Amino acid sequence: MKNILIIGSTGQIGSELTMALRNRYGASNVVAGFIAGAEPKGKLLESGPAEAADITDAAQIAEIVKKYKIDTIYNMAALLSATAETKPQLAWKTGLGGLFNVLEIARELHCAVFTPSSIGAFGDNTPKCNTPQDTIQRPKTMYGVTKVAGELLSDYYFKRFGVDTRSVRFPGIISHVAPPGGGTTDYAVEIYYAAVKREVFQCPLLAGTFMDMMYMPDALSAAINLMEANPDRLIHRNAFNITAMSFDPETLQSTISKYIPDFRMEYRLDPVRQAIADSWPNSLDDSCASEEWDWMPKYNLDTTTQDMLKELRKKLRINA
Ligand code: SER
Repeated sequence: MKNILIIGSTGQIGSELTMALRNRYGASNVVAGFIAGAEPKGKLLESGPAEAADITDAAQIAEIVKKYKIDTIYNMAALLSATAETKPQLAWKTGLGGLFNVLEIARELHCAVFTPSSIGAFGDNTPKCNTPQDTIQRPKTMYGVTKVAGELLSDYYFKRFGVDTRSVRFPGIISHVAPPGGGTTDYAVEIYYAAVKREVFQCPLLAGTFMDMMYMPDALSAAINLMEANPDRLIHRNAFNITAMSFDPETLQSTISKYIPDFRMEYRLDPVRQAIADSWPNSLDDSCASEEWDWMPKYNLDTTTQDMLKELRKKLRINA
């Protein structure tokens, strides 16, 4: 990997992934792709090249790939699950139409492609606990439909055309730099902002709603390490189950309360998000990722919580 394009470089994962890739491969070799209205700012803009890269505009993406001799594309553009339910047509156009554009460009111009899948690629009839790598995938959300179809399309391009496609099924990602937006797992980020601001958190999901989660540094290592993995060891490609922890809102609240004893949470149900969360696994089996490319998360709920509280206090200039 020498020349990298990140499509969606200003999103929750893209913004930190771009900086991590620049640190690893050299800032001038990593192009931050963005769409109008989500231009890069600050360090992201100043530290390396940036280009308008709308995933629905194949000609624009191809131009950038040629101009910078891109050999690896991180395709991070997507609408998250709850937003995708309000704009299903746009979710399809971005998630599947956009992926098709990227894969065609990768086929013609010889690029490797990373496109995240998600715990959203599973549905009601998937085994809920210790969800296997290879299992039933019949999601009923548009987000899930695009993720399953994206996994299949990416595997097709590998088998049929030899395009080096790789992917992970990300769980909810907890981070303190760019906020997520429109996701079902967003509460697990928002709760930390409420806690450091000493606000009562209004939780949109019910107690007992377990989902897989991961702290951002582990998500970045997953994306980078999978793309660097020895292809001879990969039995799977699109997409690997990965997880770092599984918790419900009560467990998260009580973990935060260890560090902020008077922190309070109330339930204010969002039925759309609850229905989506109920259809997703409680906990994934990520043993194939461990076996095939040595996946191993570093952060658990307690260490994530300590770091989130410390970093958010710094960011929001709040004293403990
Ligand atoms: N974080 C995503 C969402 O909640 C799941 O991959 O939509």
